[in-house]
Amino acid sequence: MSSINITVIDREGNRTEGVEWKDFESLMEALTRHKYPILATCGGNASCSTCHSYLDQGSFAKANEINDEEEDLLDMLDDTRHDTSRLSCQVEWSEDLDGAEVTIAPEW
Ligand code: FES
Repeated sequence: MSSINITVIDREGNRTEGVEWKDFESLMEALTRHKYPILATCGGNASCSTCHSYLDQGSFAKANEINDEEEDLLDMLDDTRHDTSRLSCQVEWSEDLDGAEVTIAPEW
């Protein structure tokens, strides 16, 4: 098993470095395992958007691509959608994401 470390900024602006992300987890699964308040009501199926997060620019470019399903849901977020928005349940583990900075998006 491999793991990488990411930095997470929660909805209160608290920044935590060294948050472990294991290779069999989606980003959402890593965040919920660390008890970040992500509801993930759809269970990671790209249909609820409660796992919305922002990646840093570099990591956004390195992450797996956004598929049509995710794109449709991100489109509905309107003003909370930024350039680097992702549904964290759709972000796949990759060694390239070591050191990524993930900001949990506001609740809608
Ligand atoms: S957990 Fe529902 S869209 Fe990601």
